[in-house]
Amino acid sequence: MLTRRGFLGAAGLAGLAATTCSRPGDALGELQDDLPPLRRPSAAPDVVARDEEYWRRVAAYYQVGEGYTNLEAGYFGMMAAPVLAAYHGHIDRVNRDSSYYARRDYGADFEAVRERVARLLGARPPEIALTRGATEALQRLIIQYRHLAPGDAVIYADLDYGAMQLAMNALAQQRGASVVKLEIPEPATRANVLDAYARILEATPSARLLLLTHLNNKTGLIIPVQEIVALARARGVDTVVDAAHSFGQCDLTLDDLGADFVGLNLHKWLGAPVGAGVMYIKGSRLGDIDVMLGDDGPADRIESRMHTGTANFATFLTVPAALDFHDAVGAPHKAARVRYLRDRWVTAVRGTRGIDVLTPDDHDLVAAITSFRLGGRTGTEENQAIVRDLLERYGLFTVWRNGVARGDCVRVTPSVYNTPADLDRLAEALRALAARA
Ligand SMILES: Cc1ncc(COP(=O)(O)O)c(C=O)c1O
Repeated sequence: MLTRRGFLGAAGLAGLAATTCSRPGDALGELQDDLPPLRRPSAAPDVVARDEEYWRRVAAYYQVGEGYTNLEAGYFGMMAAPVLAAYHGHIDRVNRDSSYYARRDYGADFEAVRERVARLLGARPPEIALTRGATEALQRLIIQYRHLAPGDAVIYADLDYGAMQLAMNALAQQRGASVVKLEIPEPATRANVLDAYARILEATPSARLLLLTHLNNKTGLIIPVQEIVALARARGVDTVVDAAHSFGQCDLTLDDLGADFVGLNLHKWLGAPVGAGVMYIKGSRLGDIDVMLGDDGPADRIESRMHTGTANFATFLTVPAALDFHDAVGAPHKAARVRYLRDRWVTAVRGTRGIDVLTPDDHDLVAAITSFRLGGRTGTEENQAIVRDLLERYGLFTVWRNGVARGDCVRVTPSVYNTPADLDRLAEALRALAARA
């Protein structure tokens, strides 16, 4: 029988038990009774990525739906069993003790969560605010950016997330600034992406704010954010970085991005319950983001830049359990595994007539997410039909994406509960669909 202590011990993480919000965790034993211990092999992450026995044990911690194969893990993350149990426990506890808990003890528990998240990201706790997701964080960072004046310009790219493009438009409109749009080259390479940003910065001397998406949701391309941030900074241009997909899908810290303003999710690749994200403002830059809607709290605290009101207590309280599980699986191991699964289907179809894989194979530029087009089809209905075919004929669940300058595509996103066989079936299905096209 695997109890919570057994799970953490097996994962070599018993010391972390005391740092989590532990009361509701008592329920973990029940849910984990028949789960095998999660003992991570000591080999290098790239080797562990191919250890099917280990990933079978990891997958056993997920209650995956039956009757279809989910290859759309990019939307939000599934909670692993210990995380789900902790979440249920926190919901029960918060509901039972209600304001008696929230008014007396929640503040300290919330601070402990914030400290844990800051440690994961490589930030100081006062530099982060917990949000309901990346959207909330990024919209506030953009719209509260203080330095845009009439005649200035903002820059964003076709692969940036739709809601953030709209926020940049709104900011520009409010301040009398102009909007400059960039098309990310296709096919993308590290050199041509860097060159595209260098050229647009050079051609836009009035630029003041740049939006960058580290790992975009349309093609999964990872751009060299740190270098682009440095290029922009050298020209006096500030950067807001959308890292909604980055943490947990890639093994990184905020230092790897080098940005002063970042929005990210805990509820995608870190496996926290839906409703958890982070707004990061580098300590020395707090004064460059305005307070939120006339907030009259202490202006030297990030809380005055992000006011969520009453949010989901249980979601935030569950974050440490999600990070415990993430650490137990192993951040570099998980990143290597999802990329291995991605490489599995891409290697099998790359170069096949009629299949155009949009995302490069350079391991600095890709993680789990990759998109394709079939038979050069770039229309919305055509790509929706491919998604329908994959589900109805082959039981494979994917998603259609739009907003790429060269046209629509289909996105594939495996997660740690998928198997190589799932991706082999996808490759076979794509070859069959391409042959019919
Ligand atoms: C690149 C990117 N940015 C921002 C978001 C918004 O994240 P959320 O809806 O979790 O707030 C998403 C969501 O998928 C995304 O893919």
